[in-house]
Amino acid sequence: MSGHASGGAAPGPVAVITGGGGTLGTAMATRLAEEGNAVVLLDRDEAAARAAADEVAARTGGSVVGWRADVADEDDVRASVDRIARTHGRLDRLVNNAGVNRRDTLADQDPRIWDEVMAVNLRGPMLLCRAALPLWRRTGSGRVVNIASRTWLGGGPTSYVTSKAGVVGLTRTLAVELGPLGVTVNAVAPSMIVTALTSAGRDEARLRELTERHRRMTPMRRLATPEDVAEAVVFLTSDGAGFITGEVLHVCGGAQLAPAP
Ligand SMILES: NC(=O)c1ccc[n+]([C@@H]2O[C@H](COP(=O)([O-])OP(=O)(O)OC[C@H]3O[C@@H](n4cnc5c(N)ncnc54)[C@H](O)[C@@H]3O)[C@@H](O)[C@H]2O)c1
Repeated sequence: MSGHASGGAAPGPVAVITGGGGTLGTAMATRLAEEGNAVVLLDRDEAAARAAADEVAARTGGSVVGWRADVADEDDVRASVDRIARTHGRLDRLVNNAGVNRRDTLADQDPRIWDEVMAVNLRGPMLLCRAALPLWRRTGSGRVVNIASRTWLGGGPTSYVTSKAGVVGLTRTLAVELGPLGVTVNAVAPSMIVTALTSAGRDEARLRELTERHRRMTPMRRLATPEDVAEAVVFLTSDGAGFITGEVLHVCGGAQLAPAP
């Protein structure tokens, strides 16, 4: 049942995934639904959010809905969290996963592109957390996972890398601010996975060259998978991870220790 309110408070925990219509978001939704969460997928691409919700609901038998929301838009974010409060009654797990990547350098930097990347990748997670705050105050608990990237360490598109380093900064400072409320805030930093985000604008040969370079620089000698990332999200949102906050969990086979590709 995608795009519809389920009506009344959800019986179990509620997980919200932004960018839920994309590849990593769908993998996370699958695992969080399997773990018994009612899942809400938010995506600015409504058709993608609905399709992912239908697919995950069919695969897991869980409660999964897909709604349109632009995480960079303050009104959209507020309206989405209000809707979650009305339909589900709580927001236990928030995965800030929506992201865009523009392949810029300092030399060709267009400040409008810079602002767009910051708005989605950095302001979005802040807006979601701010909107969810009253719900966390009410329940006295919450789990936030912000999807950063291995590239936050440096080396890559200027705006994207800066936004992901900002996500790490946001994660650390919100861990301090929200800890007393019982809310943990962590980041997951994956290495390269072939998705729409990484393949857009690249032909097959270029993509193959890039993935091979990533594979060679990775001590585990393979690329990350959406499932690798989903497992890290499940762990950091679990009850067992309740005393872990302000951390960056690299999901990149040791590539965080390697020089930038
Ligand atoms: N694929 C990789 O190699 C990789 C590596 C490290 C980190 N990441 C991060 O993982 C996250 C998911 O990426 P993916 O690879 O699944 O890409 P994807 O393109 O498959 O998914 C991203 C989703 O975000 C949505 N989105 C974009 N802007 C939005 C907005 N303003 N509001 C709401 N939704 C919006 C898109 O519609 C899309 O469905 C991103 O934050 C990305 O930076 C990806």
